[in-house]
Amino acid sequence: MKKYHPTAGTVFDLLMNLDRLHHYMTDLAEKYKTYRLINLFHGEVHTSDPANVEYILKTNFKNYGKGKHNHSVMEDLLGDGIFTVDGELWRQQRKVASNEFSTKVLRDFSSKIFMENAIKLGNIMSKAANSKQILDINDLFMKATMDSIFKVGFGINLDNLSGPSGEGVRFSRAFDEANTLVFRRFVDITWKIKKFLNIGSEAVLKKNMKVIDEFIYKVIQIKIEQMHNLKDEFLFNRDDVLSRFVQINDRDPKYLRDIILNFVLAGKDPIAITMCWFIYMLCKHPEVQEEVAKEIKEATNTLEEVTNVADFAARLSDEALEKMQYLHAALTETIRLYPALPVDPKICFSDDVLPDGCNVKKGDVVAYMPYAMGKMKFIWGDDAPEFKPRRWLDHNGRFHPENPFKFTAFQAGPRTCLGREFAYRQLKIFSSVLLGCFMFKLSDETKIPKYKISINLHIDGPLPVRVFSRFPYPRNTFLLWQDQSPEVVAMLITSSGLTTSISLGKPAQMESRKTVLVTSGLSKVAIDPKGFIGIRSVADAVEYLHSGKTNGNVVVCIDPSFSQQMAKL
Ligand code: HEM
Repeated sequence: MKKYHPTAGTVFDLLMNLDRLHHYMTDLAEKYKTYRLINLFHGEVHTSDPANVEYILKTNFKNYGKGKHNHSVMEDLLGDGIFTVDGELWRQQRKVASNEFSTKVLRDFSSKIFMENAIKLGNIMSKAANSKQILDINDLFMKATMDSIFKVGFGINLDNLSGPSGEGVRFSRAFDEANTLVFRRFVDITWKIKKFLNIGSEAVLKKNMKVIDEFIYKVIQIKIEQMHNLKDEFLFNRDDVLSRFVQINDRDPKYLRDIILNFVLAGKDPIAITMCWFIYMLCKHPEVQEEVAKEIKEATNTLEEVTNVADFAARLSDEALEKMQYLHAALTETIRLYPALPVDPKICFSDDVLPDGCNVKKGDVVAYMPYAMGKMKFIWGDDAPEFKPRRWLDHNGRFHPENPFKFTAFQAGPRTCLGREFAYRQLKIFSSVLLGCFMFKLSDETKIPKYKISINLHIDGPLPVRVFSRFPYPRNTFLLWQDQSPEVVAMLITSSGLTTSISLGKPAQMESRKTVLVTSGLSKVAIDPKGFIGIRSVADAVEYLHSGKTNGNVVVCIDPSFSQQMAKL
């Protein structure tokens, strides 16, 4: 007799749990590994079992794909691009795209752009650190990755990060909105009627598609003309992805449009999403944040004096990035817990039996669940839900990859993500500039961010953070601390590091003193010991020093190991 997976509920249960959808699916996966949901239109199977995942993504790859339904839902936005097609159409695009992705030209060009945008982000954060402004990094990362993908994809400087202006920004807004509206079609069974009548969400989508298409066809036209106009050859930037595809096929603007929109979709949101969750996790785990920052400083050799973001970025060579194995692990650990694509549904093309012995029918949706899989104890051990970057390092401290059918965030098999190397490069460049130069804290430690219900695992709403510079303290900053001895010590910190320290006597004596004159080299500064504040950790001291709350730049730390830790910073 045929065996089927246990029925865990209906799609209405999914709708009832919509605002905690992935938690709900994780709970079911914990109970059943693989389960069915009753759906009026087709069978629906969700799996977290690596053996099943390997089977649908690799062993019987040709039997599972996007199918006609997914294609019709996504066609308005993504046309016949790589994300919507199967079979020969997919194979051809995969071949051309993977050749392009592996070129040195694209690698070098994209690294340069990532670096430029990381510096822009860093400069924004510097200003925020100095003015104690709270930043919404969700918004900032979305803008930064849009700028990156526009320059790498089209050769166009969108400069979203510098403020709203121009039609490029209109395009990016329309694109983000269209993306959300297309996802809504997966749950809104009336979308075809709405589209026919041009009402509601479908009318909005149509307007957005007009903005997107007008912009994209104009850019394509300009590129084709530039290519044909020999006079302009020296102006023609051949490094961006669109130019390279125009060289391959300049006769079919629709083909180029689809390629480029799929590229924008693939390359923008997953990076912004990962950066956001990454900073969130580092704020929740300050000890990991410090370890990442320490590794970055060592790899870039910036233990000595570097005082601005651009100087710091100048030290970020390929070799330095390669040395950052702990950073690589911490990013991967974030992706394990917060995969940009939380669920990936495939259509089953003919009746089949999965490795666990259960049947699936032609037309069934068979989805693997990277989000739920990242939390499964049977895959990762009892500490599965915890954020532990070291699980990705071998005994030599080098990153070791996991079986791709267990760690499924990048998909696996013949359709595995084509942009993985590209993604890690951008993530590592952004993170090393930002974490090398700044320390991050959530502006509200108690608030737990929610994910948005859309194709990708966006944080819903802003993610406000406070940013503190890691650059050496300005001249004449004083640290006071009570070390092993019962006396309070003042230490003058200059931009080149720690210098003279003097004893100020016992705390009780200090209360009676007015100001103390401390001299170091040519610097002579009067400090008011009444600014005595007890601080217990280096992270708090750094924060306090940059908070502007210091009384004459005085900080007192009563952690005995403080002076040693400070000296290492
Ligand atoms: C953290 C970052 C990223 C993650 C987690 C990720 C994840 C994924 C996943 C799960 C898929 C399969 C989607 C499907 O079934 O249709 C995919 C496909 C793909 N990704 Fe990525 N991706 C990331 C970044 C990128 C970037 C930056 C690019 C390129 C700019 C890219 C290019 C692609 C392409 C072209 C495909 C389609 C492959 C095919 O269907 O043959 N990805 N990615």
